[in-house]
Amino acid sequence: MTNKLRYFVANWKMYGHLNSVNSLNKVIKFKKKNKKAKNLKIIYCPPFTLIHPFIQKLKKTNIKTGAQNCSFGSTYGPPTGSINSMMIKSLKCEYVILGHSEKRAKGENDNIINKKIISATESKLKVIFCIGETSKQKRKKLTKKILLSQLSKGLKKVKNKKNILIAYEPVWSIGSGIIPKSQDLENTTNFIKLFLINNMKFKNPKILYGGSVNTKNISLLKKITNLDGFLIGGASQNSNKFIDIIKKTFN
Ligand code: PGA
Repeated sequence: MTNKLRYFVANWKMYGHLNSVNSLNKVIKFKKKNKKAKNLKIIYCPPFTLIHPFIQKLKKTNIKTGAQNCSFGSTYGPPTGSINSMMIKSLKCEYVILGHSEKRAKGENDNIINKKIISATESKLKVIFCIGETSKQKRKKLTKKILLSQLSKGLKKVKNKKNILIAYEPVWSIGSGIIPKSQDLENTTNFIKLFLINNMKFKNPKILYGGSVNTKNISLLKKITNLDGFLIGGASQNSNKFIDIIKKTFN
């Protein structure tokens, strides 16, 4: 079961400076030396300013890089202050996180996210598509309804499903130290998986969990049968903690 957990995505959010590339040394060494780490997909998503230095640093490794967002459209042009999927891909960056709740909270709706997913997949980027309910929606027992709506609107007319990973990130769990009860997480991820297979034409959906993953709760989280990996925010910025989390998923 545990070797199913192959994806470890580090979401650095709005953190990091040029010297941060040096903190990758430990993870590079770990990935190279630890037999069990060889086949893992470790993906670093730093802020835009660090994508190029990260790619340079990770060039001779098989650790990948991702952006944390992108604009839609795949040509050069306005709007000022935007970076589109084609520009990210041209850096040899392979992934992009889309639909993160911290962007949704700033006004990104399902329609915008859908355009971004289409644009990113057309640019041959792999998409880490985030979905999740707020605490209010959870209290009102709307979780499934919300997830279903985010998935069907976000993935509308998206052709290449193979390059899409779904990250279930309950909004109330991000940065709070609180994770869902195991049974709830099992049920929700099962619901997501079945919906993707039965309604969205996914053949083999990959589902990640994100929200307060840390060195302590990973022993519980790794037991969730439907998961293929984790999207890790705060804890991923410290290489020792990030490696520790990964190691704890090994048998
Ligand atoms: P967290 O963030 O691990 O710090 O809760 C996860 C995320 O926002 O992707």
